[in-house]
Amino acid sequence: MLVFPKIKSVTEAIKLLGSSVRVGFVPTMGALHKGHLSLIERARKENDFVVASIFVNPTQFDKEADLTKYPRGLEADLAMLRSTGCDMVFTPSTEEMYAQNIQSESFDFDGLEQLMEGKHRTGHFDGVGTIVKRLFEVVKPNCAYFGEKDFQQLQIVKKLVEKNPWPIRIVGCPIFRETDGLAMSSRNLRLTKTQRAAVPLIYKTLLEVSKQFQTEEVLAIKERVTTIFDKHPVLRLDYFDIAEETSLRPVTNKDPKLTCRAFIAVFAGEIRLIDNMRL
Ligand code: PAJ
Repeated sequence: MLVFPKIKSVTEAIKLLGSSVRVGFVPTMGALHKGHLSLIERARKENDFVVASIFVNPTQFDKEADLTKYPRGLEADLAMLRSTGCDMVFTPSTEEMYAQNIQSESFDFDGLEQLMEGKHRTGHFDGVGTIVKRLFEVVKPNCAYFGEKDFQQLQIVKKLVEKNPWPIRIVGCPIFRETDGLAMSSRNLRLTKTQRAAVPLIYKTLLEVSKQFQTEEVLAIKERVTTIFDKHPVLRLDYFDIAEETSLRPVTNKDPKLTCRAFIAVFAGEIRLIDNMRL
């Protein structure tokens, strides 16, 4: 497995492969778990050459503490990637990606960036757009793989590709969960024992919502979810929304023509976890 911290090495190696080699790309921020590896495995199946990147992107964090406390473990990550059959890993420094100017570009994702995560984490999707655009320009993949765990991010990356002349296919991959239903996330590593015991409630709530959605109105479901978290001793609801899957517009009245998804963000102390489920 090739490990390159420099843009120049990656571009040269990709050029050497030639245009007949199908390149699959999985961008990550490291602290890898089985969810990340499921993306690598999918890329392995569908491509000739698999590239991953590990870069904790400072411009997509709205809180300094979240960035400094983000888990890091390069050696363990590289071992996992090696054993999953990844061919090349791009591990740039912040300076390599941003030089001296650690700032985001401003993007118009047709309003997708203003909802949910965008509303609750100022500038987050400008940061994601900036880094994904740069990574795509370096790796020039045929296909890029993103998890439905970050469903809004997946839709935003699709929009980014739609608005640029890159021939990249964006592939959405299912959410990988722990046995108790908790969506795998690098942030789970930071949970205390008490918090870890409490957070399966997030998935449990989504399962209940998907059942209630068959018979109940959106407003009643939203009220029920608010109540579940209202007096919870460990967890705090940041938002819960039911939205149409592609536009991510909130749904107030059920319409059988719409494909809807429930989206949730919950704080366990200062750790923020997100999850979603198709209804
Ligand atoms: P990161 O959180 O490391 O996630 C990398 C990719 O793995 C994303 O596409 C994410 O949706 C996917 N992923 C994470 N947990 C998953 C799970 N439990 N099941 C399935 N897929 C999962 O998302 C980012 O990094 C960054 O924003 C990035 C796109 C790399 C830009 O910096």
